[in-house]
Amino acid sequence: MIVAGVMSGTSADGINVALVKFEGETDASPVLRGGHKNRTGGGPRHCNFTLLAHDEYAFPARVRRAILQSMNAESASVADLARLNFLLGELYANAVMRCARTHRVEVDLVGCHGQTLYHQGTPTAYLGRKLAVTWQTGEGAVISVRLGVPVVSDFRPADMAAGGKGAPLVPFLDYTLYRDRKIGRIAQNVGGIANLTAIPANATPQQVIAFDTGPGNMLIDGVMDEVFSRPYDRHGYVASTGKVLEHVIRKLLRNSFFHQTPPRTAGREDFGPEYLRQFLSLCGAVNQRDIVATATALTARSIGDAVRRFVQTKSKDYREMIVSGGGAKNRTLMEMLRNELSPLGIALRFSDEFGIPTEAKEAVAFAVLAHETWHRRPSNVPSATGAKRAAVLGKISYA
Ligand SMILES: Nc1ncnc2c1ncn2[C@@H]1O[C@H](COP(=O)(O)OP(=O)(O)O)[C@@H](O)[C@H]1O
Ligand SMILES: [Mg+2]
Repeated sequence: MIVAGVMSGTSADGINVALVKFEGETDASPVLRGGHKNRTGGGPRHCNFTLLAHDEYAFPARVRRAILQSMNAESASVADLARLNFLLGELYANAVMRCARTHRVEVDLVGCHGQTLYHQGTPTAYLGRKLAVTWQTGEGAVISVRLGVPVVSDFRPADMAAGGKGAPLVPFLDYTLYRDRKIGRIAQNVGGIANLTAIPANATPQQVIAFDTGPGNMLIDGVMDEVFSRPYDRHGYVASTGKVLEHVIRKLLRNSFFHQTPPRTAGREDFGPEYLRQFLSLCGAVNQRDIVATATALTARSIGDAVRRFVQTKSKDYREMIVSGGGAKNRTLMEMLRNELSPLGIALRFSDEFGIPTEAKEAVAFAVLAHETWHRRPSNVPSATGAKRAAVLGKISYA
């Protein structure tokens, strides 16, 4: 069975499509059964699946603008949100179609994360109830009818209904890929938001820790847009020419988010435009390159801090961090991260070394999750989301 995983993250930069081939009706549910084969050492591992191809399709500038506006707005027009839902359905379908054609692959099933417009993982008072809520848009029915195959979408609500935060969901794949008998590993994704999955040596699924560490590229992108009118800091070049404002970093790390004990989730609500304003005013009138360097350092420092505070306190056997997401391409950020980790005895590696290109990992994850759902198997990791029980994730649209 070939499953197309489709991801578009909080950066709203575009659509990632991964075409993943699953061999037979095999045991793809290590998290619940916990009994998959022990594996040691590095090297590529595809478990029971193989990544056939991966492509990225940038959103047209005005679509990106519309998405960011809907995410950031205090209020938005219901009509526009409905339109965006159907428009994204069309764009996701086009992306899968193009990817499948380019690589001459016939897709049997799609797993589409959709575009998060709002995520509030912690229950909050609303009209007399306390509710955790989330909203991913991009109509599954449209994708399904355009492609003529079933589509699994809307993965997060089932976990939240079971008392979880609905995120992170990628730990299911991280555990499958990176669990090792001898060493602990941390999978670190640096998208708009940065999140980690920590898998101690020889871990059972219940021992997996996962949470959002804080901003990934979101603040860096925000600063680049504001100060240099560019969407991101390519290869971290601008940051490499600036100096880090230490007093700003110290002050920012006092923010209550960084002190919250995991599980915890973050989004544009936490590190979006309002945070950017505060950040810029804290930096004050300094060299603009220093502002980019400082935003970059905040990501690296908050990851290092999170590892020291919430990961290494539980176990000292972590030896590797495996990075994925667009932030892996930011060389300055990776250099800063390496400097954070080396005193902790943790080496920096990249998901490419494990057969998954850094930019493809989340899309692969949603192919894997859709495959689980298709077989009616749960795929949340309750220790990661805080859910009270395992849940089959997503809703299925039949063509
Ligand atoms: N060559 C690059 N140099 C520096 N940063 C990059 C590069 N390519 C991508 N990025 C960063 O990665 C971000 C996209 O990462 P991605 O993993 O797609 O995040 P998301 O899941 O939030 O969409 C971009 O907004 C940009 O900040
Ligand atoms: Mg993206």
